[in-house]
Amino acid sequence: MSIESILVTGGAGFIGCNFVRHWLNSKFGKVINLDKLTYAGNLGNLADMQDSQSHVFVRGDICDAGLVDSLLARHRPRAIVHFAAESHVDRSIHGPEDFVQTNVVGTFRLLESARGYWSKLAGAAKENFRFLHVSTDEVYGTLGPEDPAFSETTPYAPNSPYSASKAGSDHIARAYFHTYGLPVVATNCSNNYGPYQFPEKLIPLIILNALSGKALPVYGDGQQVRDWLYVEDHCIAIREVLAKGKPGNTYNVGGSAEKANIDVVKSICAILDEARPLSSGRPYQSLIAFVQDRPGHDRRYAIDARKIEGELGWKPKESFESGLRKTVEWYLRNPEWTASVISGEYRNWLDANYSMRGAA
Ligand code: NAD
Ligand code: TYD
Repeated sequence: MSIESILVTGGAGFIGCNFVRHWLNSKFGKVINLDKLTYAGNLGNLADMQDSQSHVFVRGDICDAGLVDSLLARHRPRAIVHFAAESHVDRSIHGPEDFVQTNVVGTFRLLESARGYWSKLAGAAKENFRFLHVSTDEVYGTLGPEDPAFSETTPYAPNSPYSASKAGSDHIARAYFHTYGLPVVATNCSNNYGPYQFPEKLIPLIILNALSGKALPVYGDGQQVRDWLYVEDHCIAIREVLAKGKPGNTYNVGGSAEKANIDVVKSICAILDEARPLSSGRPYQSLIAFVQDRPGHDRRYAIDARKIEGELGWKPKESFESGLRKTVEWYLRNPEWTASVISGEYRNWLDANYSMRGAA
């Protein structure tokens, strides 16, 4: 693995910070971490990395071409790993504009800067440069119960403003490879979970609501299926694609762990019943509340990961059961992290999203 610098965007968010931690702990080289620190970005995620000579944090926007150009010129990275995005489907329903701005326009601007930088490289530096675009399985739309899982050739059919904006960014990244030869590699991954996930997403929201004795909101009938992947396994997949992925290629990444939402919630309840029983003696499942469904809610996602497994030798290390247990234990051990991310803005979000839902 290279010891040169890489530029990571969105490295203070959930997956980005896990990736930066993985990269620095493995001593793979220097990370220039460009993050706007939106509500989802938190430097506390990297507090123990702040003194590392190998971590340079820059607060800024991927849409700021002048800033990105100057970072590329100064640090001369061998790769850009692009995580920065607006990432929450429910927020994209309430306010889609930021999603178009960051995910579509921001990715376009970053690609333009990358193209300018890469076109002036020569020899091995040019040969080895990669732009790794991190995307989602949601671009493929929704599956019926018997449909085959999403492969790299499944046609795009995004249904939410979030997935549509990610699909837009995927298409632009693809075009920069085909039109300009920029060595783009892309990953489309299923739902992640693990440490440092902001508690607007299902798994941390359920853990934290349960710990404070609040209702556990399950949208609709709770039978929507997601294919869950532990975040560390995603980080390893990205590392492998960076090292061995072929320019112009996409790799689907998934955990082969399809679960209905209601079963995910019940599994969290079962772990908590053991680890931190309710003082009332009642099971955590008694807190489950079915609430009004999300508009346009995709029914099922599933990933066919045979390409990355066969070509790059990647496989997830965690099962859903082992990964979920680790995740719950992490949240139990880190209440101060949760306290630090639950800002006034977060409480406003909970009011906006859940007060309108009512019971299903
Ligand atoms: P996140 O919302 O936790 O973090 C996003 C980060 O990007 C934050 O630190 C935020 O401050 C930063 N950011 C947002 N707008 C920015 C801008 N304009 N300029 C610079 N920084 C900006 O997201 P995540 O869950 O870590 O997801 C990371 C990437 O992985 C996203 O591209 C997402 O689409 C993709 N992805 C996520 C999942 C998942 O389950 N979370 C699954 C597949 C793919
Ligand atoms: P989420 O974590 O928001 O990820 P995504 O929408 O990208 O899949 O949601 C995961 C699933 O859980 C999704 O089907 C919506 C559902 N969900 C609930 O049932 N209740 C909740 O409070 C949340 C946040 C999500």
